[in-house]
Amino acid sequence: MTIIVTGGAGFIGSNFIFYMLKEHPGYRLVCLDKLTYAGNLSTLESVLGRDDFRFVRADICDREAVERLFAEEKPDMVVNFAAESHVDRSIENPGIFLETNILGTSVLMDACRKYGVQRYHQVSTDEVYGDLPLDRPDLFFTEETPLHTSSPYSSSKAGADLLVLAYCRTYGLPVTISRCSNNYGPYHFPEKLIPLMIANALANKPLPVYGEGLNVRDWLYVEDHCRAIDLIIHKGRVGEVYNVGGHNEKQNIEIVKIICRELDRSEELIVHVEDRKGHDRRYAIDPAKIHRELGWLPETKFEDGIKKTVRWYLDNQKWWQEIISGEYQQYYEKMYGGI
Ligand code: NAD
Ligand code: DAU
Repeated sequence: MTIIVTGGAGFIGSNFIFYMLKEHPGYRLVCLDKLTYAGNLSTLESVLGRDDFRFVRADICDREAVERLFAEEKPDMVVNFAAESHVDRSIENPGIFLETNILGTSVLMDACRKYGVQRYHQVSTDEVYGDLPLDRPDLFFTEETPLHTSSPYSSSKAGADLLVLAYCRTYGLPVTISRCSNNYGPYHFPEKLIPLMIANALANKPLPVYGEGLNVRDWLYVEDHCRAIDLIIHKGRVGEVYNVGGHNEKQNIEIVKIICRELDRSEELIVHVEDRKGHDRRYAIDPAKIHRELGWLPETKFEDGIKKTVRWYLDNQKWWQEIISGEYQQYYEKMYGGI
């Protein structure tokens, strides 16, 4: 079994590669990644020399490079994590989100058709459903919830999802889609809420909470997401969408306070800053379908997962210090320069 994993030098893709190499001895994992600002080859250091792993630097929008790799590897499956993934960056610069997230997806699927790939899996997001009101805790996103996006990022992901389903219906491409809630864990890029707050708290820097901090996200430990995708690509029904989430809703302000407690920092570091434009209020996944059909349930409780994550950032400072000392400084200055 050969699986091409795109975006495998990023947060979830790298965790997926480690998970699959551990769970499926004998599988060959080929990582195709452009190494944008969000991709780090150092993340894959521990597997780079292995016979059952190959890294190729390429852009999923580059048809020639993608086809060359498919011709060489003749993959059985493709799992597409490659994307521009940060909502705030999509608000500043939507164009690259449309290119990578939509056009890149179509280039990959064209190659899958040409080389007779048995399964194309699209890693999508709960953000395609838009948001839920804060005063209706009884409402959840199901696979039937209409797509109703808020940001250029989520719109590009929804566009890709529609294209994936169209390739299935029109060309009979064997596809599956997973729509997961917010992940956390090792190798999470420091522009995102949890790692940003850990890095800032450790440096005793202000903790920038957008607006009042009452927006709700549904957090899932990254390995639970990887296990869900593993189940879907092997046992999921072709043409189907599976929501992935663990009923673990938290307000942003709660998350930041938990991190302060874990790191023994004062909550006085918290600073309320200007709200994100179009800020989604609440995400909450109903994972009944993946539980019913594939037996998936999350294994890591948030209380344990956040402790493990904080520990990981303490033990792996070199990894994230290198990232935040480079071009990331300019991004940070632009986003948070005022505090
Ligand atoms: P990330 O930003 O950490 O990593 C993205 C990776 O894709 C990077 O390694 C980057 O170099 C690579 N990449 C970007 N553009 C590329 C291109 N044109 N060609 C090849 N490689 C390219 O993202 P992540 O948080 O790991 O998210 C991975 C996927 O999961 C995304 O599709 C995202 O939409 C989805 N997702 C993320 C979350 C989350 O909480 N992070 C939740 C649900 C779904
Ligand atoms: O729900 C899945 C999505 O989760 C994925 O599709 C995206 O790729 C991923 O980035 C994530 O999107 P969010 O926008 O929810 O994640 P982010 O970490 O950027 O923000 C989480 C919440 O925290 C959100 O309500 C905005 C808020 N926030 C974020 C940052 C970076 C702050 O209050 N301050 C900050 O500095």
